[in-house]
Amino acid sequence: MCGIVGYLGEKNTKKILLDGLKELEYRGYDSAGIAVLENGNFSYYKAVGKLVNLEDKTKDYETKGFAAGIGHTRWATHGKPTELNAHPHLGESSYVVHNGIIENYANLKKELIADGVTFLSQTDTEVIVHQFEKNLKSCATAFEAFGKTISELDGAYAVLLVTKSEADTIFFAKHGSPMLVGTNKEGEKYFASSDTPLIGHCQDVNYFEDGDFGYVTANDIAIFNNDGVKKEAVFSALSQNKLSAQKDGYRFFMEKEIYEQSDVISDTLMGRLSDEKIIFDELDKSLFDGINEIKLCACGTSYHAAMSASYLFERYSKIRTSLEIASEFRYRSPIMSKDTLFVVISQSGETADTLETLKMAKKAGLKTLVICNVDNSSMVRLADACILTRAGIEKGVASTKAFATQVTVFWMLSLFVAKLRNSLDTNEIARQISLLREIPTHVKVTDEMHERIKRLSKRYLHGHGFFFIGRDVFFPLALEGALKLKEISYLHAEGYPSGEMKHGPIALADPELFTIALLPEHLHYEKSKSNVEELSARDSTICVISAIEFDKADDFVQISTCQDYMLEFFEMMIVVQLLSLEISIRLGNDVDMPRNLAKSVTVE
Ligand code: F6R
Repeated sequence: MCGIVGYLGEKNTKKILLDGLKELEYRGYDSAGIAVLENGNFSYYKAVGKLVNLEDKTKDYETKGFAAGIGHTRWATHGKPTELNAHPHLGESSYVVHNGIIENYANLKKELIADGVTFLSQTDTEVIVHQFEKNLKSCATAFEAFGKTISELDGAYAVLLVTKSEADTIFFAKHGSPMLVGTNKEGEKYFASSDTPLIGHCQDVNYFEDGDFGYVTANDIAIFNNDGVKKEAVFSALSQNKLSAQKDGYRFFMEKEIYEQSDVISDTLMGRLSDEKIIFDELDKSLFDGINEIKLCACGTSYHAAMSASYLFERYSKIRTSLEIASEFRYRSPIMSKDTLFVVISQSGETADTLETLKMAKKAGLKTLVICNVDNSSMVRLADACILTRAGIEKGVASTKAFATQVTVFWMLSLFVAKLRNSLDTNEIARQISLLREIPTHVKVTDEMHERIKRLSKRYLHGHGFFFIGRDVFFPLALEGALKLKEISYLHAEGYPSGEMKHGPIALADPELFTIALLPEHLHYEKSKSNVEELSARDSTICVISAIEFDKADDFVQISTCQDYMLEFFEMMIVVQLLSLEISIRLGNDVDMPRNLAKSVTVE
């Protein structure tokens, strides 16, 4: 996701900003920029693509003395990755960089346009700088105008702003997106959206809390809380190890990404939910005109997300839905009819098999949609329409947060289509939207849950195989649980529909066969329970994941009581991810780089 840096001091500001941005490269980005205010004048540079492009553009630019500088790497959410959409964004005499999403930007923008403001970009961010300059006209100080602006923003943000009206100051605000400030003996001030750019420059840093805003000058760090009350900075020692700083103290990126799911799902939902409908600004409603079938096509984990979606589309949107494994679809002379919306799902947007099926669908004249995590990827460029999942860069080879955001998008999309087709009544759509808002809470990893799974994992390091079983959407989750486990532990695991076990695989049941049973309270509980009992009677070792205690299990992981099966889905997703992680760590494997696997499979 996006990265922010800021610097106020007398050293080489350009270099400090560019070096800082380099430290944030691992988060993923598609454009970058800097703005520096020195001797009352701004210099700014932006470039699409990698940082070398920005370095190239700034090669003849030098900073010499005291300056206030801000920089940004952008991961596109509102608007394409173009130079105009890259940060910093300019007003008349101020620049801003921003991480997060301003939910009420459309209303603010409408009012500003009515006031005569011209917008250069398609971003939500640009409203911040114009709103600030509007407030500057009626406020006594730039700080007052900044505080007023922040109080007018809804959504999540980490913001840095520099303005000619107070040229020796950087203004900051944080709500929902991370940001810290550090200082040193020379009195320099460094900002960043995560630790690494500050390593080597500062020993002690202050992590801002939600609601904090204020300013820094050469002599001061002034922090105010939500209510405008001044507070002291709380400094803590900064770890000086860059790799561990990138992992934020987690042992593996995969672990970090499991923990990030609550935040990234909030990003996925942001700006897309109103009380009674789903908003996908990126979709033209005519995309669904004349459509009688949805065909979902993907590979691996993305295929499992698609399979979950196939249940939701038929249940909620009442539209015929079919599912395809991309590597199979491409070579089986499929029949493609024009009343089908062809939907590809891909974290990377580059998977060769999936990309090829998209090309086939386009060639056959079908309307196409991609659900993707990487803007400007090949699939995003090719499809007629795109919904970005906003999971941020995923470094662990075993996908976790990308899957979570894909399922979140699909749940939203099934309600969006339900509204278009009138297949769910308004109250039910409103109820489901309130459930969607609950997902981030349900995927928060608690210490208690993680500890429980860590302890449990030592009993599952051997055996002749695992069966993950579930019904309905819990079947694709079972497939995903099994895929996670085999990818990183190298143990054999299969996902199976619970009701299908008796048609063959139950022959394998013995104490060395581990069954991981997904038993949701709110979907076919009794039926799934009987299937587990059948396995228990044949002495399989059983670990049940459920909100309801189950006495026939050898092990039991209790999820919290949920209002709906989809929330149980997300709770169980966390359990199967953590279980795979902990088993694999105990086996001594490199969880982030499992043998034989690549993050993006761009060959057949
Ligand atoms: C598993 C995993 C893979 C990918 C698959 C498709 O953890 O990550 O199964 O899901 O290779 O990749 P994308 O989603 O990039 O098309």
